[in-house]
Amino acid sequence: MSGIELSRAMVDELRKKETGAPLPVTIGDMATTRVSGSFSLVALVFNTIDNLTTQEAQVACFQNAADHLETGGRFVIETLVPPLQRLPFGETNLAFAADDDHIGVDTFDVVTQTYTSRHVWSGASGKTAVAIPFRYAWPAEMDLMARMAGMELEHRWAGWDRSPFTNRSTRHVSVWRKV
Ligand SMILES: C[S@@+](CC[C@H](N)C(=O)[O-])C[C@H]1O[C@@H](n2cnc3c(N)ncnc32)[C@H](O)[C@@H]1O
Repeated sequence: MSGIELSRAMVDELRKKETGAPLPVTIGDMATTRVSGSFSLVALVFNTIDNLTTQEAQVACFQNAADHLETGGRFVIETLVPPLQRLPFGETNLAFAADDDHIGVDTFDVVTQTYTSRHVWSGASGKTAVAIPFRYAWPAEMDLMARMAGMELEHRWAGWDRSPFTNRSTRHVSVWRKV
């Protein structure tokens, strides 16, 4: 097993959780970083594909995943279905948290397929705010990225429990196979 991570601070967090032998992690950009070896599985979970904020970078990431796979190997992505059906025509903001200690709002740009997640946390020590840039891609766009990289769709589920993907699914777990 091997990992690629951009942030040394996140690797430090991983190390705190590990109980067995440490996972080898290469610091770098998942769109371009190559690790040695050939793998049966490449996994990119918890919306992480959206951290690549251009179509070019997402296409490169699919190609990089395929380049790490042996023939017949799988690339698995877990991410959001873009929640644009919830956005009234012409509007840009969707709240996803409105608690006493946490306000969260996504601001969408449907022209560039980008969005910014803004969080404000309030606590005893004051307020913390972050704004994180993302790019959303539709499942069909990901299928095309996969095909460009020599992979074909094998499964699409609504979650890790393999429940059917439907017109009400808010997330997807997609599996492409390298041909
Ligand atoms: C949504 S978090 C996923 C966290 C972790 N997978 C989990 O389940 O808790 C996204 C992770 O991707 C990393 N990341 C963002 N952009 C990246 C890039 N271009 N290359 C590699 N890692 C990246 C972030 O530093 C962060 O650790």
